[in-house]
Amino acid sequence: MTMQSRVARTITQHMLGNRGEPRPKRDLLSIKDLTLTDLGEILACSFELKKAWQQRRATPLLAGCTLAMIFEKSSLRTRSTFEIGIAQLGGNSIDLSNLNIGMGTRESVADIARNIDRWCDLVMIRTYGRDRAETVAKETVAPVINALTDEEHPCQALADYMTLMAVEDTSDLTGFPIAYVGDGNNVSHSLICLAALMGMDFRIASPEQYEPQREYVEWARNMAAKTGATITVTNDPAEAVRGARAVYTDIWASMGHEGEYEERAKVFPPYQLNSRLLSLAEKDAYVMHDLPARRGEEITDEVMDGPTSIILLQAEHRLHVQKGIMMWLAGKAGIRKYQ
Ligand code: CP
Ligand code: NVA
Repeated sequence: MTMQSRVARTITQHMLGNRGEPRPKRDLLSIKDLTLTDLGEILACSFELKKAWQQRRATPLLAGCTLAMIFEKSSLRTRSTFEIGIAQLGGNSIDLSNLNIGMGTRESVADIARNIDRWCDLVMIRTYGRDRAETVAKETVAPVINALTDEEHPCQALADYMTLMAVEDTSDLTGFPIAYVGDGNNVSHSLICLAALMGMDFRIASPEQYEPQREYVEWARNMAAKTGATITVTNDPAEAVRGARAVYTDIWASMGHEGEYEERAKVFPPYQLNSRLLSLAEKDAYVMHDLPARRGEEITDEVMDGPTSIILLQAEHRLHVQKGIMMWLAGKAGIRKYQ
């Protein structure tokens, strides 16, 4: 059965109900939930959809589907690419900003999720603690996508490595040396786990007390033992960057940590991605950032706008990979028996 017909059949069952047993559904809450097979399916679908997009071919594969978008934090790229992505797949979206729905204040997170699930086929959530995303996932048969939590940003990491595959013209990033310099935050956690799954050579340099959380480093090291990945965690930016073919950074104070900005600004400057640090990497190393950037802080203009920057291509790939994720998950929706 083609992916298109499998997705169509599942969606029909999901929307109309069936007489079979309810079955578990898949969500994308964490990179840690993915197998290599899952990853291959998502990326294959994403590259197919990218090709169709480049050729201006319509792909109304999720016609009639509604994506609920819950944002408890700000967004430009995520909001735009999910809304554009579901529209390009023939579906529609509803933006439920917290101002209106009052998650956990006007109504409990679980009750909101149960309601949304009666109308929507997919849910995406950007929130603070992962427990909120997990509660939504527990209460819905519609698949739930983590569109950033305090702990992770899986859609970003998938788009980033898809971007590297595109510029390197390969689907195999085994041994690819990539350095991340800066805060051991949500983005770094998803990047480290996905690099481990894909067998990459991942190095991260953060100031003391701002290293990635142990849970993610341990998971990545265990996975690396199976895939042959190399995971280096250091406080020395030069050690991380030396010989890397891509150098990545992110904002020093993530959403929710704005109050720590002054304190962080004292310790992070040695981790700035500038031409001096970049000169330690391999010649013509790619420059990466998930955005938004604070120019002149974690990254200089010169590097951000330089000839090897693939930052805007990363932003473009958010669109392609999230269409792949939505297609993949729509084919794995739960089935509810409707009364
Ligand atoms: N990179 C990213 O997720 O951007 P937004 O916060 O603008 O969605
Ligand atoms: N680490 C950043 C990523 C923004 C896309 C944050 O959480 O604010």
